[in-house]
Amino acid sequence: MVIVLLGPPGAGKGTQCKRIAEKYKLVHLSSGDILRLHRANGTELGKKAAEYMDSGKLVPDQLIIEMMACAIESAKGNCVLDGFPRTVVQAKELDIALDAKKRKIDAIVDLVIDDSVIENRMTGRRSCPACGTVYHVETLKPKLSGICDSCGVKLVQRTDDKPEVVRQRLETYHQQTAAVTGYYADKGHTILDIDAGKSVDEVTAKMIEKLDRLSMVR
Ligand code: AP5
Ligand code: MG
Repeated sequence: MVIVLLGPPGAGKGTQCKRIAEKYKLVHLSSGDILRLHRANGTELGKKAAEYMDSGKLVPDQLIIEMMACAIESAKGNCVLDGFPRTVVQAKELDIALDAKKRKIDAIVDLVIDDSVIENRMTGRRSCPACGTVYHVETLKPKLSGICDSCGVKLVQRTDDKPEVVRQRLETYHQQTAAVTGYYADKGHTILDIDAGKSVDEVTAKMIEKLDRLSMVR
């Protein structure tokens, strides 16, 4: 089963994918997390991606497509995709890769949120470098300040969460990624729109309600 979660930076994709993955026993595949892991490990891909990520631009399609095709294969097609596809080219390549394996996208969720809410979410975000769990200094605090609840590791702030980079990421989203929703709508997919401006728990509840109603997820 493949679920695609769309939405702008800071909409809550990572937060919600973690919950959806647990609920439906899927592998959470975040293209951003995988790229950050490459950077931390100093791989060639990580080195190539760094300058794009730090300036809020998209990493070139050909680098991402190969990376994500491998990740989906390792997950045996049982995954929730977070941050991929991010361009129409990536969406088309994903279709080709899934077709080749006789798989399909089972559900597409779009987290809808106003740009004005996003900056506060991003600047207050703290993440666990070990397990990727995402917190917020005001709305989603860890039990012990600055420490991951699950791993006990010190939380970090992402280098691309500076206000000027956040603004560039939003612009990139509107220019290149918003069109992905139109691509899927044109192909006849049902897109589950979710109001991502609500609390974390309300967003999760609404997503699960809509996914269950689609009666694709067991
Ligand atoms: P990526 O890591 O995917 O970043 P993003 O899409 O910009 O999204 P974020 O991870 O910043 O936000 P999110 O939606 O996951 O929100 P989160 O749950 O953390 O990509 C980073 C970079 O990698 C890109 O800029 C690009 O360079 C590159 N890249 C990645 N994929 C690519 C691709 N396919 N093609 C090309 N390049 C690619 O939540 C944010 C904060 O808000 C947290 O603090 C959280 O606690 C809080 N929060 C969440 N939900 C709520 C809520 N409902 N109420 C209150 N607070 C909330
Ligand atoms: Mg994320």
